[in-house]
Amino acid sequence: MPSIVSDPAAWRKQRAALEGTLGFVPTMGNLHEGHMALVRRARAENDHVLVSIFVNPTQFNQRADYDAYLRTLENDVALLGREGVEFVFAPDEKSMYPDNYEMQVNETVLSQQLEGKFRPGHFQGMLTVVLKLLNIAGATRVYFGEKDYQQLMLVKKMAEAFFLPVEVVAVPTVREDSGLALSSRNGRLTPAQHEKAVLLSQLLQSAAANDAVAQKLDAAGFKTEYVATEWGRRLVAAWLGDVRLIDNVQAKGE
Ligand code: PAF
Repeated sequence: MPSIVSDPAAWRKQRAALEGTLGFVPTMGNLHEGHMALVRRARAENDHVLVSIFVNPTQFNQRADYDAYLRTLENDVALLGREGVEFVFAPDEKSMYPDNYEMQVNETVLSQQLEGKFRPGHFQGMLTVVLKLLNIAGATRVYFGEKDYQQLMLVKKMAEAFFLPVEVVAVPTVREDSGLALSSRNGRLTPAQHEKAVLLSQLLQSAAANDAVAQKLDAAGFKTEYVATEWGRRLVAAWLGDVRLIDNVQAKGE
């Protein structure tokens, strides 16, 4: 079983005593096969692997969404144990935010587009916690899924801008056989919504124009926030009931 560390200073001490490379996978827990793809890649490319599990309050737009986020630490640790992960970092809110949220990382361009427009403050919270986690982890490489494409680009940008001594590795999205991208939020879909959610990836990969994709999604019962082509990707965000889903695929012709 992985050894669980909850204190940042204790992990830094442990890291200093470790020889070789460290692959780091930051998560908010409630782990699924998408996370396992990150973990397996980290294991294949490094001497040691650290996975963090921390539900970061500053990246949620609504308190209710933060409260509703499933905490499954015991199960997550068991899953990671089966993947041969050695270390889990599971801090509490107080040890991650000793400054009482007074220091924040603020990106002013990319974070204002698409997701940023619909989730004000989300990327500020995400970048802040990722910078903290990277400073604590002391990793050689950090692994992010392409599913949260804008997040991945922002973390790469932050690593470059702040000269962080870590390689940011992008891992392709893991999908169900139906094409639906794996997400912790899928567990909140009813069976009927789950079946409908397949339309997201199907329409993203179709020849239909972005406006037409949004119209078809709305007609099927989604509330679409955006369908857009940016950064060589076609991206979507849409609500199904009270569950917000995002996905992206390589744009046609890119
Ligand atoms: O992608 C996530 O799960 C979170 O945004 C992350 C990177 C763990 C930061 O809280």
